[in-house]
Amino acid sequence: MKKVLTGIKPTGEIHLGNYFAVITDILELQKKNAEIFLFIADLHTLADSTIDIKQTHKKTDELIKSYIALGVNPKKTIIYRQSDFPQLTELMWILFSITTFPHLQRSHAYKSSVSSKKIPTLALSIYPVLMASDILLPDFDLIPVGRDQLQHIEYTREWARKFNKQFGEYFKEPNAFAKENIEIIGTDGRKMSKSYKNTLPIFEDKKIIQKKIECIKTDSKNKGEKIDPDKCNVFYFYDLLTDDSSSLRKKYLSGSIGYKEAKNELLSAFMNKFDGPRKKYANLTKDSNFTEKILSKNRKKINKLLDRRLHEIKILVGLRKK
Ligand code: TRP
Repeated sequence: MKKVLTGIKPTGEIHLGNYFAVITDILELQKKNAEIFLFIADLHTLADSTIDIKQTHKKTDELIKSYIALGVNPKKTIIYRQSDFPQLTELMWILFSITTFPHLQRSHAYKSSVSSKKIPTLALSIYPVLMASDILLPDFDLIPVGRDQLQHIEYTREWARKFNKQFGEYFKEPNAFAKENIEIIGTDGRKMSKSYKNTLPIFEDKKIIQKKIECIKTDSKNKGEKIDPDKCNVFYFYDLLTDDSSSLRKKYLSGSIGYKEAKNELLSAFMNKFDGPRKKYANLTKDSNFTEKILSKNRKKINKLLDRRLHEIKILVGLRKK
């Protein structure tokens, strides 16, 4: 059975983009009984100077509850948190010994930081090594990632090869899970992303979601004019959220609906789709220890795996006797 790792930085509230690009994949894999791990990459937030690090524990808590409320089953999917496992950073040090700085300087994250004239911190510069360690130490086969992360998986494969060549065959090369490239657009028509402030968050107050829907960009057609549904962002979201959008499509094409009403229909569809998860989320927040309980349940199992592998690696490297 393939071991699948989904790694997520706990940075913001869960929105429609996360749901359709990441969570639905996990739910599909759960159905296929793959061995799935959901990894909260909280140390990685320190590599991003735009993030409010003080919020990381809170974001982690919200992320775990959101995923579970949306259907991730903690009995099937093993949820764990990077900063609970110092073995990962220890392997990173070992990987440093086969890493050169010029190689890291070719990474997208490093280059874009330099081009924005910010001096990259060491955390940002060596970030791909930590990510390789995240993947190689627990021995994963498949990593579902978006396009922006493909280079990091390629780097990870290189480190696996380099390590094997230098110290002896140990790591297998992980594969990026060939995802269809679904890019969910945001309320302003660009890619949905927290940094563009164009998201539709799933667990926010209804009033806030309503406001965000009201702000969806449209053209200035008046009611009575025909609208092309395939060029309208309101229709785009409606179609994502409902199984059958044909009746709204007809109204668009016949000119019998204006944008205001269409936005109301979208709000109802949104609330309908996420009614169950929103109730579940509210319930989970009643238990202030919920997240820590989930994390501590898995800690022993993961520790055992990581300790064993790190020990084997130390023998290969020469730090421990055979
Ligand atoms: N770098 C990933 C991101 O920004 C998060 C991440 C860290 C990750 N470690 C990982 C993803 C290991 C997959 C596997 O989205």
